[in-house]
Amino acid sequence: MTDLLLLPGDGIGPEVTAQVRRVAERLAPEFSIDERPFGGSSYDQHGTPLTDEALEAARASKAVLMGAVGGPRWAGVPRDKRPEAGLLALRAGMGVFANLRPALCFEPLADASTLKREVVEGLDIMIVRELTGGIYFGSPRFIEELPGGGKRAVDTQVYTTAEIERVGRIAFELARGRHNKVTSCEKSNVMDSGLLWREVVTDLHRRDYADVQLEHMLADNAAMQLVKNPRQFDVILTDNLFGDILSDEASQLTGGLGLLPSAALGEAGKPGLYEPIHGSAPDIAGKGIANPLAAILSFEMALRWSLGRADLADRLYGAVVKALEKGARTPDIGGKLTTVQMGDAVLAEL
Ligand code: IPM
Ligand code: MG
Repeated sequence: MTDLLLLPGDGIGPEVTAQVRRVAERLAPEFSIDERPFGGSSYDQHGTPLTDEALEAARASKAVLMGAVGGPRWAGVPRDKRPEAGLLALRAGMGVFANLRPALCFEPLADASTLKREVVEGLDIMIVRELTGGIYFGSPRFIEELPGGGKRAVDTQVYTTAEIERVGRIAFELARGRHNKVTSCEKSNVMDSGLLWREVVTDLHRRDYADVQLEHMLADNAAMQLVKNPRQFDVILTDNLFGDILSDEASQLTGGLGLLPSAALGEAGKPGLYEPIHGSAPDIAGKGIANPLAAILSFEMALRWSLGRADLADRLYGAVVKALEKGARTPDIGGKLTTVQMGDAVLAEL
């Protein structure tokens, strides 16, 4: 069984995952590492963004680390063959329904946020985003021509009790190991799926997690509270679409997308999928200046959650913080280091 499968993907994906490979080879030379084309680069080679073989390889690994997918180059490709469709198929195929997206303000970077230092200092939020359901996967979905001209587009938001409950459990369990508070976000004021979400979370809380503080918040209010007073949050539990939006917003509290990792987990014992939350950044792809820290920290999460090496995760985390303390910065966080030099800076601390 492969320990770590790398799916570099597109844009800056290959550049940042190359640094993960260097770090992994230094930290744990005993790990077996494998690699497959994914996303647009897989489409170019195989005519599909995720081959059956790559999905099988992912299922047969202990952890999968994805770089990034997509780019303007594939804008004209039919939707079911788009790089992003490959990512959704990978998440669904691996059954990774809970996406953990930490938004953590590193002390040396408290001034890199566009928000005031006193608002973001010490910030430590964990967003738990449902990842294999909701409007990303609901059917029907289509665009149709209307007889009188124009078109009509339909997407479907759908959730079941079981889907809400299993991701809710992860959020409550995580909160117990943190500050014991879950804020569950939906739009129960306008959506039936939001109503069910609130009902299921409330019920689960009463049955099994009454010791955890639970708060319900409408997703639009949560977006506002995130910039007004982000430190009120501990664990944010939310659906696929709101989680996508709120996690991008939260990243900005911490100095940017270049720093935020994520872990997608399924049933216990199944492999996890680890991805930086940033995209393929076509504007800087190939320039060698992308920040590899989000990818490196995603590997840190893989060590902790899938590879059973919390000891190495602690070492790696410490090395990243040290490198930042010593002033290592790529352009996105106000510095001049290249992607490789940032990798060097982390390796130097290991
Ligand atoms: C993310 C990304 C993806 C998503 C895209 C690339 C499909 O934005 O992981 O947040 O929307 O889930
Ligand atoms: Mg996103």
